[in-house]
Amino acid sequence: MEQYIIKGGISLNGEVEIGGAKNAALAILAAANMTNETVYIDNLPDVRDINALLEAMEGIGARIDRVDRHAVTVNGSSVENFIVETESMKKIRASYYLLGALLGKHKKAQVPLPGGCNIGSRPIDQHLKGFKAMGAKTRIEHGFIIAEAEELHGAHIFLDMVSVGATINIMMAAAMAEGNTIIENAAKEPHVVDVANFLNSMGARIKGAGTDVIRIMGVKVLHKTEYSIIPDQIEAGTFMFAAAVTGGDIVLRNVIPKHLEATSAKIMELGCQVHEYDDAVRVIAPQKLQGTHVKTMPYPGFPTDMQPQIAVSLAIAEGTSIVTESIFENRFRYVDELARMGASVKVEGNVAVISGVERFTGARVSAPDLRAGAALVIAGLAAEGITIVDDIYYIERGYENLDLKFRELGAKIEKVASEKEIQKFRLKVG
Ligand code: UD1
Repeated sequence: MEQYIIKGGISLNGEVEIGGAKNAALAILAAANMTNETVYIDNLPDVRDINALLEAMEGIGARIDRVDRHAVTVNGSSVENFIVETESMKKIRASYYLLGALLGKHKKAQVPLPGGCNIGSRPIDQHLKGFKAMGAKTRIEHGFIIAEAEELHGAHIFLDMVSVGATINIMMAAAMAEGNTIIENAAKEPHVVDVANFLNSMGARIKGAGTDVIRIMGVKVLHKTEYSIIPDQIEAGTFMFAAAVTGGDIVLRNVIPKHLEATSAKIMELGCQVHEYDDAVRVIAPQKLQGTHVKTMPYPGFPTDMQPQIAVSLAIAEGTSIVTESIFENRFRYVDELARMGASVKVEGNVAVISGVERFTGARVSAPDLRAGAALVIAGLAAEGITIVDDIYYIERGYENLDLKFRELGAKIEKVASEKEIQKFRLKVG
């Protein structure tokens, strides 16, 4: 089992290149199966979730060619099996995007019930409600969701809550349904817009993505395209908070500053300076951060995927801060781990009250999920002494070369796989 070992207390300095957005890429790869022509996609992150999805796509007959580490071609003309069975698919939530893609093109799909991070109950009723409104029959049998339609037709769908996954899934199926679909109360996240742009580049007719009403005119066929995935706002934000907690000064390259606005605003409330450029952002942190309050919200609000990272920053900020998690009910599982590093956090339901402490002290902790795992790494970067983060499997689901990128910013962090390597690191860093 691999771990990260970190000697904390070093200010991060320098430049870091942000990769493509995992959550956009998952949906775009699934949608690439909707044409018989070859689609080229680049700026893909090389992370476990993406590789698991590519494997599952090959499992249903798609032809995938790795052009290089961050680019693939996908040809879905040979997809003839609509049952997604790969074991790895149970581990990633985004298996459900093959449901919308296959249902749209083939009017039939069978996908394992999604797995992914244990951050709440994560139902998919809104996805199914959308498919049903378009004329599909759906059922759950033996751990699979099965959706089939004689004919898929447009529908007027009002989502009961803002759901990124349901918005994208319905948009994909509707892109090849007969007639017009309207999704009301749609999610506005940048990756919803990216998926719509991708589908439109294949000949779909989708308007309004990025607002809460999306209109889709179904088309009969989609065609080839070449597409570059947007930068990952969550990876970028993770580095911004890492700069904040270490009193650092870093420049993030390959970002869209607009997508980072909610994060930048909070980073400034913590007392950091944020300078925005065309496709870069610089964060300059003070020696001591200021506490503040934050509530997670759908975009353009503060993202739930950045909640553990800001909480870590607030845990060593001046004063008392309140963090309210309004999207997922089980997203404070890292708090006990952080307490081992000296943090003082009290959780009541979906609210965490954080009393800032002077400093963290290094400890052995476990990543409970993807983003919380990254947050514990950030805590380790700020902590006095050595921190070991176990279960980094979760972190590698969504971050490419996290240790390498931090090392390039001056951090002392390594991936290790044995006690011997841990001892070697301890001797090296002194
Ligand atoms: C996506 C992201 C995830 C992020 C989340 C919120 C991917 C692969 N994952 O997850 O990283 O944290 O958006 O920004 O893109 N809900 C229902 N019924 C449904 C669908 C959702 O009740 O049918 C609820 C969820 O339980 C949750 C809320 O709606 O409370 C938002 O979930 P949703 O936006 O769908 O999240 P995901 O698409 O799963």
